[in-house]
Amino acid sequence: MEQLVTALRAIGEPTRLRILSLLSRGELTVSELVNVLGQSQPRVSRHIKLLASAGIIERLPEGTWVFYRLADHGRGQRIAQSIIALLDDADRVLARDLERLDAVKHARTNAANAYFAEVAKDWAHIRSLHLSEGSVETALREAAGNRHFKAMLDIGTGTGRMLEVFGAQTDQALGIDLSHEMLNLARLNIEKAGLPNCSVRHSDLYNLPFEDNKFDLVCVHQVLHYLDEPATALGEAVRVMAPGGLITIVDFAPHQLEFLREQHAHRRLGFTDTEMEIWMDQVGLSNITHLALRPDIQDAGANHLTVKIWTAERASTPAQREVSA
Ligand SMILES: C[S@@+](CC[C@H](N)C(=O)[O-])C[C@H]1O[C@@H](n2cnc3c(N)ncnc32)[C@H](O)[C@@H]1O
Repeated sequence: MEQLVTALRAIGEPTRLRILSLLSRGELTVSELVNVLGQSQPRVSRHIKLLASAGIIERLPEGTWVFYRLADHGRGQRIAQSIIALLDDADRVLARDLERLDAVKHARTNAANAYFAEVAKDWAHIRSLHLSEGSVETALREAAGNRHFKAMLDIGTGTGRMLEVFGAQTDQALGIDLSHEMLNLARLNIEKAGLPNCSVRHSDLYNLPFEDNKFDLVCVHQVLHYLDEPATALGEAVRVMAPGGLITIVDFAPHQLEFLREQHAHRRLGFTDTEMEIWMDQVGLSNITHLALRPDIQDAGANHLTVKIWTAERASTPAQREVSA
């Protein structure tokens, strides 16, 4: 009872309700909240502190940034969700906040797109600065095994490298990306590699233009750390996965290289296994595996990062289980 009263007191204030409404759209930093709410940083920080100490929101420090998000378990989550359900999206203040949030996200997406347009031609080189591509690709092929796939989707395909890696063991492979510059290079690369079964198209990974249950292999290679809402992106990826299908996610383990944010449009400095496993579990993935590819010792000073490969499967249908039994 005391906990509940503390939580309700923490929420029972207009700015704090606005913060809940904003965080219901995904995790945000204090400066993004300051931007949207139009209040000073100390004021916003005080509101956030109250919500965090009542267990309604969670604080996730990462390098010099701190992300805030709604509690994703326990009583705090139930209270937050119940209150959010009562908020009226047509309320003028909340609606204006959401418009400003869209503008903040838009500005960031535009900056990231400009970055990808700028680096497209040097992408193969930039990608190899932080990881040994050969070992990642060998590990990925091993994770997928000798399976032959009917339909592959490479989300955030960039210059199409994953299509080249898996194209030969797939009937039809498709890469999607928001950057036209990247897609132009991907088209050249798959042509050069002689892969007529591969193609690319312009599309947003948050809103994939495909029906449910379509792809039996989905790859998300070095994409999630650029995104505002990696968990939402994962949910959309799983929507288009066929039951029994495989997803491979390649990204960085947690690190401290802040310059990647400033100079290379990264938003998240890597992901923990726990975070990834919670997200995967929430969207119905199972048989989760993870593998860490650590940089060579002699490279340790050269900004090389540990690369993680997570794989998981979407539960198969009863009919599929009967066939494989
Ligand atoms: C770091 S690159 C990785 C490219 C490729 N997967 C690789 O590893 O070489 C990230 C890619 O994600 C794309 N991207 C970022 N946000 C996206 C979105 N909302 N929808 C589709 N693609 C997106 C970028 O345009 C960029 O090409």
